[in-house]
Amino acid sequence: MTYEPEVRERLERDAKEIIGRYPRPRSALLPMLHLVQSVDGHITQDGIEFCAETLGITPAQVTGVSTFYSQYKRAPMGEFHVGVCTNTLCAIMGGDQIWDELTAHTGVGHDEAMPDGKISLERLECNAACDFAPVMMVNWEFFDNMTPEKAKRLVDDLRAGKDVAPSRGAGSLCSWKQAARVLAGFPDGRAHEGVPAGPESLRGLELARERGWTAPSPDEDREQPHEPVGAGEITDPPPNEPGEPIGGDVKPGSQEGRNQ
Ligand code: FES
Repeated sequence: MTYEPEVRERLERDAKEIIGRYPRPRSALLPMLHLVQSVDGHITQDGIEFCAETLGITPAQVTGVSTFYSQYKRAPMGEFHVGVCTNTLCAIMGGDQIWDELTAHTGVGHDEAMPDGKISLERLECNAACDFAPVMMVNWEFFDNMTPEKAKRLVDDLRAGKDVAPSRGAGSLCSWKQAARVLAGFPDGRAHEGVPAGPESLRGLELARERGWTAPSPDEDREQPHEPVGAGEITDPPPNEPGEPIGGDVKPGSQEGRNQ
């Protein structure tokens, strides 16, 4: 393992704190992966071996988990990791177009970084912000109601070192590695900055209040499911006799009459 002694010492101290939050060391694997990613920028062999050794599991087990979840990267990402949601709603609202134009603009594709190490791109699945579609994220902060032009300007501003503010949440961006450290469970104190939910997200709640709608009480009587049918009680409908028309509402030409 090639971590410098002071890095290793810091990792061990942080790992001890993370593991202390769980009943068993191996349960801490996900935040541990974020921790090593906060040091290396992606999941390296050193990071895998550190997690395995610290948690008492095999490198293969760590690798299996790290390759399952898309938030763990197997190659270096940029200082600003830019995600474009191309899931259904964002895609039809312009996410696909944003992705096409942004990849052409930057010259990089999914989970690839630009040569200057400033920007990497990712096609994201739904960010649970469909009411602001099409949505982008930078180091997991939201950029709402995007267009191809706004997306390209955002990337250009980040590369130029300009201050860029997310649409909601924290008032500024941290680096990719700092975001990974927050995900490892070391808050940067900014979780409650800014507006978490915009008017679009609160519209349903407002409507419910205006109309006096409430959620049903958990104690309210609900229709009971049907009693299960016993093995001997199964009664298939009798087959039709050949040449006999099917009764009921079978429409002329429908599939239902084809077996006569
Ligand atoms: S589809 Fe993009 S946030 Fe849900």
